[in-house]
Amino acid sequence: MELHKRPRRLRGNENIRRLVRETKVSTDDLIYPLFIVEGKGVKREISSMPGVFQLSADNFLKELEEVQSLGIPGVLLFGVPENKDKTGTGAYSHDGIIQTALKEAKKEFPNLLLIADVCLCEYTNHGHCGVVDDGKILNDISVNLIAKSALSYAEAGADVVAPSDMMDGRVGVIRKTLDKSGLTDKIIMSYSAKYASAFYGPFRDAAQSTPAFGDRKSYQMDIANSREALREVELDIQEGADIVMVKPAMAYLDVIHEVSSRFDVPVAAYQVSGEYAMVKAAAGKGWIDEKSAVLEMTTAIKRAGAKIIITYFAKDLAKWLKT
Ligand code: PBG
Repeated sequence: MELHKRPRRLRGNENIRRLVRETKVSTDDLIYPLFIVEGKGVKREISSMPGVFQLSADNFLKELEEVQSLGIPGVLLFGVPENKDKTGTGAYSHDGIIQTALKEAKKEFPNLLLIADVCLCEYTNHGHCGVVDDGKILNDISVNLIAKSALSYAEAGADVVAPSDMMDGRVGVIRKTLDKSGLTDKIIMSYSAKYASAFYGPFRDAAQSTPAFGDRKSYQMDIANSREALREVELDIQEGADIVMVKPAMAYLDVIHEVSSRFDVPVAAYQVSGEYAMVKAAAGKGWIDEKSAVLEMTTAIKRAGAKIIITYFAKDLAKWLKT
């Protein structure tokens, strides 16, 4: 056989493969999400997310020590309060869970990037991401409360605020609110293209934020749409987003790719709770190899065009990537 073109030449051994490898996930790319609860000494495993815990502030600080020593650049914080109400007061009260945790964390870990997820759903008794009236999720009133929350997180020490509510216009109002208070350096990482996904199930166990009625389809995006994602991203950039996010990751690699080719801001992808849970469940049964599956998924997310990967596997990845 006379064959001149042999792509296999560049796959012959690990050194040549290393040399021609196009994409590499790095610890530099990772953000680790954490769930903070009230009380002391609490470390409660989330049953649908083995290895992920709800932590009280004291244990949260211990966790930050590990995150920092592993070289992970930042953490994304969710608060899970005991008392919830109609308008999600806990999200913007000065002594809220996240505000308190941020103050302590900033004192002890001044260099770690502290990212506060901004949303009302963990704080409202109906579990929706905005204020509800007569079964409708009200946009503009919600945006004001969301901006108020973002401001209070930024004042408490968040370096980055990450609105995940999908209300219209919230990035612009947050930017204005921060700037008016002189917080011009605070970064906005917007959940720009956040889909109404089935993959958030385990998170809602962790954050106790399952909607009491209906679903999130009137604000989160329709799973079928990608052009709409580009409009959302464009608006968020116009309104002042510094980083845009696509969420979930695996089922939306086309969207990640399209967004990163069209826009010149850094793109983040959120490998969500359901993606984590599926890997854990299958690996637990011995059906797939966890480490290679996670490396393959995160490499795909990066290959698609994301620079930043938010993942519950961040600590594992940081350990695997070291060796
Ligand atoms: C809050 C929020 C959610 C997630 C991040 N922020 C849940 C939701 O929209 O229901 C999901 C994260 C995950 O599944 O890991 N709005």
